[in-house]
Formats: sequence, C-alpha cells, structure tokens
Amino acid sequence: MTGRPPSGDPPFRAPAWLAQPGVGGRVGRGAKPPSEKRFGAVVHALGEVDSTQAVARALADDRAPEGTVVTAEHQRAGRGRDGRSWLDRPGEALLCSVVLRPAIDAAEVPQLALLAAVAVAEAVEALTGLAPGIKWPNDLVVEDRKLAGILAEAATASRAVTRVILGMGINVSQREFPVDLAARATSLALLTGREVDRGALLDGLLTRLEHWYDIYLDHGFKPIHAEWCRRAVTLGRTVVAGGAQGTAVGLDHDGALLVRDAAHRTHRVVAGEVLDAPGG
Ligand code: BTN
Repeated sequence: MTGRPPSGDPPFRAPAWLAQPGVGGRVGRGAKPPSEKRFGAVVHALGEVDSTQAVARALADDRAPEGTVVTAEHQRAGRGRDGRSWLDRPGEALLCSVVLRPAIDAAEVPQLALLAAVAVAEAVEALTGLAPGIKWPNDLVVEDRKLAGILAEAATASRAVTRVILGMGINVSQREFPVDLAARATSLALLTGREVDRGALLDGLLTRLEHWYDIYLDHGFKPIHAEWCRRAVTLGRTVVAGGAQGTAVGLDHDGALLVRDAAHRTHRVVAGEVLDAPGG
C-alpha cells in the first residue's frame, strides 16, 4: 500500500482511507480471489503529485505490470480531456490511474474510457445507491452535474498500443465547488448527504474495472457497448456536437457518437463536447 514515486521523491505512507480491509486484497461479490486479481495487486498510494497519470506512465515505462494503480491525495496539475485541467482540493476526490497493456489498435483506445465509465457508474451505484448516467463520451453525471471524469492516454508503436494509462477522478467529499464549476459539478457527499469511504470506492471500482476489462479482452467492445447505452443520458437528446446538430441516436462500434440531423444524415462525432441544442 505504500509506493515510491519514480521521481526520486521520498516514499509515502498509505493514507488512512486506504488502510482498510478490501483494498489490496479485494474480496467481494463476483470478485476474484486476491491471488488472481491484477487490478490493484500493486497500489502506489501517494500524497501530492503533479498527476497520477504522469506517475503511472513513468511506472509503466519502467515495466510496471498491468493493473498497477496510482492514487493520490492531491494533484498539483491534474489533467482532463482535451487539454483541460482537473482541479481538486486535498483529500476530497478519488484520483487514480491504472496501467493497462491491451493488444488493441490506437483507434480502439476510446473504448477503454467508455468501459471505465461503466465501471465507475457501477461502483458508485453499489456503494451509494445512486445511479449515475453517462454523458458521451465518458462523463459520469447525476442530475445533469458532473460527478466523475475519465481520461485514457495511450502510447503507441505504429498503430499498435503499447500501454494505456486510464485515469479516473471522482468527486467524493466536496461540499462546495469554485463558482465557475458550482452549477456543473457535484459530489457523492452533496448527493448522499454523507461521507463516502474512498477506500471502499476504489475497491469497488477496481473490481468492476477488472471485470469489464476481462470481458473486453475476451469478447471485444460489444458487451460494454450495450451497458454503456443502458446508462447513457446523451442518447435521444437533441445535441450540438462535432459541428453537427441533431438527435444523438447511438454509439458506433468504436465509441463515436452518432448524431442524425434534420435532413436524416448521420454524423460520426469522435471527439469534443456534447451540448444540448438550443430549444432541444
Ligand atoms: C475529464 O473529465 O476531463 C477527465 C478527468 C480525468 C481526471 C483524472 S484524476 C486522476 C487522473 N490524473 C489526472 O491528471 N487526470 C485523471
């Protein structure tokens, strides 16, 4: 439960929230025995870092095994999608990055972020009873406010993936947000009115993540596609996305959003934000 960050900083002690049964020896409904699990067999629980993504990437470059997890109390330079930053105050969020080494093509990497969205939603639901929706591509939302975000960063050789760092940030204990986020963000504390245990959340998340990842490796994206669609809040809405305006009608096999415009043309949206269309 302790880890030495590769930067040469001193080793950290595991925070109290991780020092509980379950994490590092996860046993739960549908979970594998500890000896068989890969996700979380090695957890680097750190204090303050620039980004857990950067730490996990350095560990991966140093041959860390698949399923290695980096979590931190605070990020000085947390990274979000599309070059945005991801802000946190110490101890208020579950911040983690997982090293993956799937034998997939670079074009398939977004599927892993969609997979993670399903796993995060399930872990949150199991622990709190909340049923987060997924806003395309992989934002977890409750009551139209963002609860969690996911970032998949891959290294490739030609088009083959050599490793993916899957980063997840879940708002846990925040009771308020900076003004510019207040109308758009939420946390488990605000939604449930109680403190949610980050260790138990990480435990559940890693269990669900490994579950879906194994299915993905064995059966491809199709089973995840179905589960993603079941939780999607974007489908059926009138949206503006990727230069198109129309109804979000589906998720393509590679994770692209399908938007049908007024002329019944279908557009594939592969990146960017989805906004509700004016009057939609
Ligand atoms: C987004 O919604 O824009 C994605 C946010 C991803 C944030 C997580 S927090 C843990 C990991 N480390 C980072 O720097 N980013 C991801």
